[in-house]
Amino acid sequence: MSGFIELFMTKFSAPALGEARQTGDGSWTLAHPDHAEWYHSADGALAEAKSLYVESSGILGDFQRGTPDAETVRVLDVGLGLGYNALATIDAWLRCGSRGRLEILSLENNDALFEAMRSGEAPWQVGWDPQWTGAVKNLDLVSDGLWQATIAGSGGGELLWRVFLGDALSDHATGLVVRSGPFDYVWQDPFSPEKNPGMWGLEWFSAITPGVRPDGCLMTYSVARTVRDALETAGWRIEKIPTTTRKKNWLKAFRLARPGDPK
Ligand SMILES: C[S@@+](CC[C@H](N)C(=O)[O-])C[C@H]1O[C@@H](n2cnc3c(N)ncnc32)[C@H](O)[C@@H]1O
Repeated sequence: MSGFIELFMTKFSAPALGEARQTGDGSWTLAHPDHAEWYHSADGALAEAKSLYVESSGILGDFQRGTPDAETVRVLDVGLGLGYNALATIDAWLRCGSRGRLEILSLENNDALFEAMRSGEAPWQVGWDPQWTGAVKNLDLVSDGLWQATIAGSGGGELLWRVFLGDALSDHATGLVVRSGPFDYVWQDPFSPEKNPGMWGLEWFSAITPGVRPDGCLMTYSVARTVRDALETAGWRIEKIPTTTRKKNWLKAFRLARPGDPK
């Protein structure tokens, strides 16, 4: 560890949030203070955000083709955590000309983690692009538990990033998800099904499914049998896809059309 980073880590470390660890691509993550599970793959926190969520989902292709001005792309970011998935999505949109409208709704229940992220000086934010720290510092409280920031794109588009701070499993959160849709993409990224089972069960997937458009895409790192079963029962078609890491597969799921869907 360089002297600078050592000094930085000492000054800003927040033991209650968990120990900061550097991943294989140089980006930083945390180990959860209670169950010690890392927030990201050891191969790379940033690489996972880009490769699993932004690239493998197809949203990058949408951005590259250029979203028509009148069209809105909506992303449900489950488990904001350290912010990588949301910010990698924002970054891709900005780099691809930022046309049309992008809306991201992030869900997170760890207040202290969110406060640390908003500071722009959290242990895992070492070396972050100033545009990323600028975006998190711009999040303002707009109503009970709801934070938001808007970003104007150079291509004339607008981005609305909202963060709901509270339990994703609450009626309040799932109601917000359904009202904020229809989502085109879901980044399903809670802790593992063993450590965070409620966020991978049939109840959870059934609650969010009405907020996702038919053929909407859900990406996740877990290919556990219980997760696949719950998704299929909730009305999703699943595919195992190859990864860009040492792990063999990630999961890509598509929300099946059902009676009552808008034509
Ligand atoms: C693996 S981390 C997410 C990493 C994150 N996607 C990123 O890009 O940095 C899982 C996150 O899900 C959050 N989480 C777990 N259960 C939750 C719940 N019931 N409601 C809201 N957030 C939850 C945790 O607090 C944690 O921050």
